[in-house]
Amino acid sequence: MKVLGICGSYRSESNTNNIVKRVAESANSDFELVYLGKTKIKPCTGCLSCAMNEGNCILDDSMRELYEKLIAADAIILGSPTFREDVTGAVKCFIDRTIAIYYRGIGPDSGEPYTGKRPLAGKPGVAVTTTAGVGSDRAVETLRLYFEINRMKVIALLPEVVGINNIDDMPDVIARAEAAGKKLEKELTKTKL
Ligand SMILES: Cc1cc2nc3c(=O)[nH]c(=O)nc-3n(C[C@H](O)[C@H](O)[C@H](O)COP(=O)(O)O)c2cc1C
Repeated sequence: MKVLGICGSYRSESNTNNIVKRVAESANSDFELVYLGKTKIKPCTGCLSCAMNEGNCILDDSMRELYEKLIAADAIILGSPTFREDVTGAVKCFIDRTIAIYYRGIGPDSGEPYTGKRPLAGKPGVAVTTTAGVGSDRAVETLRLYFEINRMKVIALLPEVVGINNIDDMPDVIARAEAAGKKLEKELTKTKL
């Protein structure tokens, strides 16, 4: 069982990325963390070449590798800091670009004309966002909706108010991250049986 953690903050001392890592560690499975700050992901141009090209995006950047990782993952943890009361532009850019894999011919039909399939359907997901105190509702809703559109199974939503603190000094935040990881582990064990 392989857990893929998407660490959406570009900061090296990121609380969001730290929470994603703690969830992944607590799930007791193989995991890989992808730091979006170390990737190059261009914005989706909306050309929809992917729809005509078996789900292959014409943009040559880090998404090429990430498409394969998303499809291969058994579970996904998606983390974004809250910027302007929503996910960051970098995370939205990643979310937008994942449309390409809808046209790979994998997964259940979307049910709508021309919108391909849902290759991540059924995969458990944990969403993480951190804020200074305002606007996590919308950010976590963006992440939840992403799981819903992909027909993934929401295991936990973690909107955390961290202010200027470090979550290493916030036992409640750590406890919620670890509980989410344990819940993910339980779900993955069920899937394995
Ligand atoms: C451009 C920008 C916009 C932000 N917007 C908000 C916001 O709307 N509400 C809020 O509570 N915090 C906001 N913050 C603070 C971050 O959400 C907060 O510091 C977050 O925990 C950083 O995550 P990280 O440690 O993972 O990088 C903003 C920070 C930046 C740089």
